[in-house]
Formats: sequence, C-alpha cells, structure tokens
Amino acid sequence: MTIELKGTRPLSSGSFRDCYQHPKDAGKCIKVKRPSVPNHVGKVERCIGKYEPDPNIREYEHYRKLLGTGIPLHCYFPKMYGLVDTDLGTGVCLELVRGSNGEMPISLEEIVTSRNSAQFDTKYILQEVIKFSCFCAQFGILASCDEPGNLGFVRDNKGLRLVSYDLKLRLNKELIPVSTLFAGFRRRKITRRFNKLLNYLGKNLGYIDNHG
Ligand SMILES: Nc1ncnc2c1ncn2[C@@H]1O[C@H](COP(=O)(O)OP(=O)(O)OP(=O)(O)O)[C@@H](O)[C@H]1O
Ligand SMILES: [Mg+2]
Repeated sequence: MTIELKGTRPLSSGSFRDCYQHPKDAGKCIKVKRPSVPNHVGKVERCIGKYEPDPNIREYEHYRKLLGTGIPLHCYFPKMYGLVDTDLGTGVCLELVRGSNGEMPISLEEIVTSRNSAQFDTKYILQEVIKFSCFCAQFGILASCDEPGNLGFVRDNKGLRLVSYDLKLRLNKELIPVSTLFAGFRRRKITRRFNKLLNYLGKNLGYIDNHG
C-alpha cells in the first residue's frame, strides 16, 4: 500500500532526504529522497562503473548488513523497519527519535552554532562523542553518522543522550578499497574522520584555540 506524504511538511531535511512523520504511526518516520536531488554520478564513478545508489537503499542495506553481524546498533541508532512505498518514492522507515520531553534531537551542528552553547555541558558532549567514535571504530561503522548534522542529543529522564540518525553508507572512492577490504584500514579511517569532527567541536566549543 502506498503511504501518502505529498502535501505534508517534513519534520526535518538533510541535503539528500526529507524526513516525514509516518502518517499512521506517530512513533515512526519515513525518509524520502528530496525531489531536487539527482542521482550523483561523478566522472570517476562513471569511469570505474561505480555510482551512488539511492540514499535510502544505501541506508537500508547498511542497517541490514550491520544488524546481520549482531552489532548493537540500538545503543545509538533508531530502529529500522524497512523500505516502504510512498507517493514521493521509496522511503526508509525508522523509529522517530524523540527525547523524553517529546522534542526532536538537537544536532551537534545546532549546538555549536547556537548563540547559547553555554546552556550545554560541552565537556559531557565531547565525552559522549568520543565514546560514540570508539563504538563506531570497534564495530567498523563508516557511515554519514560522523558529520555534525547527523548526530546530536535528546533529553532522557536522566540528562542528555547521544543519538545518531544517518547510517547511509558512503561510496568508497579509494582506488584500491582498502578500508572496505581490511578491518584495520577501516578502523583507522573511522578514527581519522571522528578526529576531524572532534577537532571541529573542540574549536567551536572553545577547547582548542582557533589560531593555534
Ligand atoms: N529517525 C529519525 N528520528 C528523528 N529525526 C530524524 C531521523 N532520521 C532523520 N531525522 C532528521 O531528518 C534529517 C534528515 O535525515 P538524514 O540526515 O538521514 O538525511 P540526509 O539528507 O541523507 O542527510 P545528509 O545531508 O547528512 O547527507 C536529519 O538531519 C534529522 O534532523
Ligand atoms: Mg543527514
């Protein structure tokens, strides 16, 4: 059955997808590709026959692969319910992440750009991001979840809880795809990517001198 989303406002949007609340189940959301987003096929990808499939398929397949190996994704990621047919195209259906106060997550990007970042316990935030980076390195999770717009915090009864809500796999553009083939290379790449994120956070939250 086709789920009708046309005419409703998305809860939130990324550069590839809009995220809608499921019209029949308030605890779920559906991500669909934004109409303006073409299938990206760069010159290199065209030459070597690699191109990026639909972001929803990439996320769905990555979830299945990671869950199939028993990785405890539920520690940080919303539950994934599968692909669904919508009037805006194929969507991926997920648990809608909300805090115990009912609010949507606040992303790291919003935290660093908010004028009032003093309202957040930034040391705790950095510690939680470091823990999450160790989780991703341990389980070889190399996805869009290391970008400041794709992870954030929700309030739970005890305080703030880190959540990540973008598990779409990036196309491996290495000539020899060592980080796909070898766990050690993969772990190092994940660590490098998180170090970039931590550096960005450190600078923007005032822990690292911008001129240093
Ligand atoms: N399960 C979820 N629960 C609540 N909000 C979500 C969920 N998944 C996504 N979102 C919201 O929807 C936005 C868009 O989703 P997502 O980041 O997966 O899209 P994208 O376009 O693929 O992202 P990007 O621009 O990072 O490539 C997120 O930034 C987040 O605010
Ligand atoms: Mg995103």
